[in-house]
Amino acid sequence: MAVTDATSVKLRLQGLYKSFTVDGREVPVLDGVDLYAAEGEFVSVIGPSGCGKTTLLNCVAGLDEPNAGAIELKGSTTERRLGAVGYMPQKDLLLPWRSVLDNAIIGLELMGQPRAEARRRALSLMETFGLAGFEGQYPSALSGGMRQRAAFLRTLLADQEVVLLDEPFGALDALTRSQMQEWLLGLWGDLGKTIVLITHDVEEAVLLSDRVYVLTARPARVKLVVDVDLPRPRHYRMVTDEAFVHLKATLLASLREEGTWG
Ligand SMILES: Nc1ncnc2c1ncn2[C@@H]1O[C@H](COP(=O)(O)OP(=O)(O)OP(=O)(O)O)[C@@H](O)[C@H]1O
Ligand SMILES: [Mg+2]
Repeated sequence: MAVTDATSVKLRLQGLYKSFTVDGREVPVLDGVDLYAAEGEFVSVIGPSGCGKTTLLNCVAGLDEPNAGAIELKGSTTERRLGAVGYMPQKDLLLPWRSVLDNAIIGLELMGQPRAEARRRALSLMETFGLAGFEGQYPSALSGGMRQRAAFLRTLLADQEVVLLDEPFGALDALTRSQMQEWLLGLWGDLGKTIVLITHDVEEAVLLSDRVYVLTARPARVKLVVDVDLPRPRHYRMVTDEAFVHLKATLLASLREEGTWG
């Protein structure tokens, strides 16, 4: 589904450059990153640890500003991005003193929605997110997968067209991780969101994505873009198919060339 029609592009990054000043020295982190995601596409970004992936998402989400380059969101480079995209950060950041339900509605509350209305919306989705019966529990009582689904619910309740996910499955065991990947595939199919996923996991990137971007070690540049033209709906059984294995090997080889802890 490699759509390039300008009208359907929901997110476009052009020549994104970002550096931080550390001990008076300029450290470049993003070095001219180009990327796009069309309406309803699932795009993944993989790259070595510390190459700048979270920095990239922070810039897109409006939490940080690039030094140069353009970020076009829903056709505009000028609109405020803060709060205009769904963003699930690398750590789930659930508040331990709030119940699952009240964690889920934080974004809606910040957007000014009355608490009762926000709770009603969140409750209607508990089943879909595998959290039915746990609404009143605190995060400490949840499994890792449930915590992640609670964080997903909070992110998706904000109901933005473009959703950024920073390694949402990074801390999960292999089985829970593969269950969550399939759950996310189903959810994405139902919701029709445009998703940008950061991951270290090449197999995850191939299974979920329409297109995968490989970044270099810091400072990050796009070194490879791979279209994943495997049929949908996808299923975990596909990971042993020849086409799947070939794509995975291509991406892994590209990543390994960077030679760091990817
Ligand atoms: N606010 C900041 N000030 C200074 N340096 C920063 C800041 N934020 C990030 N960095 C540096 O930028 C680089 C990229 O960090 P970033 O968190 O974007 O990497 P990443 O690709 O997400 O890593 P990981 O895969 O481990 O999550 C790192 O060297 C980090 O130390
Ligand atoms: Mg990161």
